This record gives sequence, structure tokens and C-alpha cells, in this order.
Amino acid sequence: MGQQDYKMIAKTLFGLEEVLEKELMILGAKNVKTFNRGVEFEGDKGFMYKANLWLRTALRILKPINHFKVKNEDQLYRNISSIAWEDIFDVDSTFAIDATVMSDHFRHSQYAALRVKDAIVDRFKSIKDERPNVDTKHPNIRINIHISHDECTVSLDSSGDSLHKRGYKTEINIAPINEVLAAGMIKLSGWEGNTNFVDPMCGSGTILVEAAMIALNIPAGIHRKEFGFERWKDFDEDLFELIREKALDKEKTFHHKIIGYDIHYPTVTKAHINIENALFDDLIEVEKADFFDTEKPEGPTLVMFNPPYGERLEAETPVMYKSIGDTLKQGYQGADAWIISSDLQALKNVGLKTSRKVKLFNGKLETRFVKYEMYAGTKRTRRE
Ligand SMILES: C[S@@+](CC[C@H](N)C(=O)[O-])C[C@H]1O[C@@H](n2cnc3c(N)ncnc32)[C@H](O)[C@@H]1O
Repeated sequence: MGQQDYKMIAKTLFGLEEVLEKELMILGAKNVKTFNRGVEFEGDKGFMYKANLWLRTALRILKPINHFKVKNEDQLYRNISSIAWEDIFDVDSTFAIDATVMSDHFRHSQYAALRVKDAIVDRFKSIKDERPNVDTKHPNIRINIHISHDECTVSLDSSGDSLHKRGYKTEINIAPINEVLAAGMIKLSGWEGNTNFVDPMCGSGTILVEAAMIALNIPAGIHRKEFGFERWKDFDEDLFELIREKALDKEKTFHHKIIGYDIHYPTVTKAHINIENALFDDLIEVEKADFFDTEKPEGPTLVMFNPPYGERLEAETPVMYKSIGDTLKQGYQGADAWIISSDLQALKNVGLKTSRKVKLFNGKLETRFVKYEMYAGTKRTRRE
């Protein structure tokens, strides 16, 4: 297309940086560099659309548009005023500022954000004689300000709503797992659709849907209604349509089962609705069952789940985690099992030898993602 390459930043959850880096490399990103909770890369406009549509482990993709030194609010105001905002978005679009400030020169990120907002509004007023409105909840345009010491980077958020909002989850259960985290866990496990997949405490079905999208190679954002870049003045609708159409040609076939259980009937109904929204009702089977009464389906199987935590009586949790270990050992011989939990103490009660342990963050919550290999036949998993 002869489009120009530029730098972008994809943000992610702690612990998923390398997974995101790999996703970006496979997608064709250039000059990929990983940092804490993010990956920097280069690509053109089409690649930015592709990255937003495909990436499973990115929360948002920022496009830096300006960089300057700044030591006080007036300098910030002047620098922001000098950006041709009227070339970036229309005056009838709403906007919001997201500011991160790590600097002795600025005490309040809120105040910095306010000055940025004023600078943009005043620029529009002087050039267009009209002003765009601010909408902090559902803005059309999101502007990201990052101030570190005396360095300020101004970026446009090309994603809009966080990319974990895939568009299929209309039914929310208690403690649903973040879609980005769920996809990252599946990627970390190495599962690509080569075996059966079971989430025996599936809640609203997030892990199951993410697994199906991975197995069939369906873009993570295919059900999203909108991306931030669609509101930019330079939006190339034809190019984005082409990228979406090409994406649909990449679907793979899948020859195994994806199964979910939940003990709570209303939750099973919620999972069914979300699965239907994702158009996987003919692929994912979910039924009401107590995990402790279930067995591994026939054939090679990977089990992955996040058991309840925090919502139970403290005395019940160790018993429950012990039952998880016992069920895996007795009913799931030959399977690989992965559990994520923020209850590090309870995890010890599973009583199985861990073959991998990864530290991940679910937002601010520190978790462990652990693997147990349930050997079949004589080579039983040893108890710790
Ligand atoms: C933390 S939630 C799982 C959230 C899920 N990953 C999601 O994205 O919505 C734990 C789920 O385990 C279910 N559960 C608790 N005990 C169970 C059991 N013995 N068998 C099956 N499901 C169980 C609960 O009903 C709850 O929906």
C-alpha cells in the first residue's frame, strides 16, 4: 500500500509481555521491543488496524504523535495547543484525556489532564469557532498523555474501549476473568487446538470462548462494534474492510472438543448466551455439573480454570482446593491441568506436584498460574 511506518505501543497485563511480543512478531510487526506491561513496535496504518483486530493479549494500542520536554503546566498547555488537533478529529467528536504522570514537576495527573483538555478545546475554538465536548465514559477519541520526569509523550489510543472487551460477553458472572488474561493463559500453556479443552468451573465461559477463537484462528476483536481509529479523520474504511475480510479466510478447522461445566445453573445459562454471541454454540458444550463428579473426556485433554476465591468461608477454601487435586488425580489421568488463583495459600492444598508456575496479574490482583501433569497408568502424579 506504500503506507508509512510509525511507532506504536501495545499495552498488556504483567506477565503477558512475551506472549504479546510473539503475537506481534507472527502478525508481522517490525522493531519489536518488550518493556514492563507493554511492547513497542512499528508498522503502518493497515498494520495498526490488523493489530487491533487480531491481538489477543493487548489491552490497547497507542500511537504516539508528539513528544516534548515539559516542566510546568503552562509549557504543557502551549505544546498541546501547537498540535493540529483539527486534522486529527472532528469538532463533533467527543474526547477524553487519560494522563499518567510520574514527575516532580507535576503533582496531580488530574490537573495535567485538565490543562491538556483546555489546550485542545481552546485550539478548536480559535480555529473552528466551535468546541468538541468531553465524555469521560464513552469518548469517540481517547488521548493518552504520559509524563515521565520532564518528558511528555502524546498518543492517540487507536483501540478506544479496552481490547479485552471483545463484544461477545453480554452476560457477566461473579469474578469473570479478563479476556486478555484468559487468552494469555491459553497461549502460555502452548495449546493451539491440538487436544480437547475443558474448563470445569467455567462461569460466564470466557476461557472457553477464548480457547475456541484460538483453535479456529478467529481474530480476537471480530465481534467488536468499534475501534478507536474508526473515529479518526484519516480512517480508511476500505482498507479496514479488506483486513476484516482477509481475516475471515484464515479460519482453521478443529477436530477436538471444548467442554465447560459449572455447578450453578443460572451461570450455565449465562455461559450459553455468551457462547452464542461468539457464534460457537455448535462447538462449545457447557452443562451443569459438579466438577468433583466429572471425568476427563476421551482423548488427549487440557484442563484450565480459575476456581472461586475470596467469596467463600475461609474454612471451605482449603477443602475445595484439596478436592480439586483429588478430582484431577482420580478422574483426569493423562491430562495437563492449569489453574489460576490469587489464593496462593489455597493452591498449596491442591497437593499435586507443579510442573510450571507463572506469576500473572489480573489487574492489580497478583495470581499464580500453575500446571499439573496428570500422568496416566503407573506413573502417577506424586503428591508434594
Ligand atoms: C471464579 S468463577 C469462574 C469465572 C470464569 N472463568 C468466567 O470467566 O466467568 C468460578 C466458578 O466456579 C463455579 N463452581 C464452584 N464450585 C464448582 C464445582 N464444584 N463444580 C463446578 N463449578 C463450580 C462457580 O459457580 C463459578 O461460576
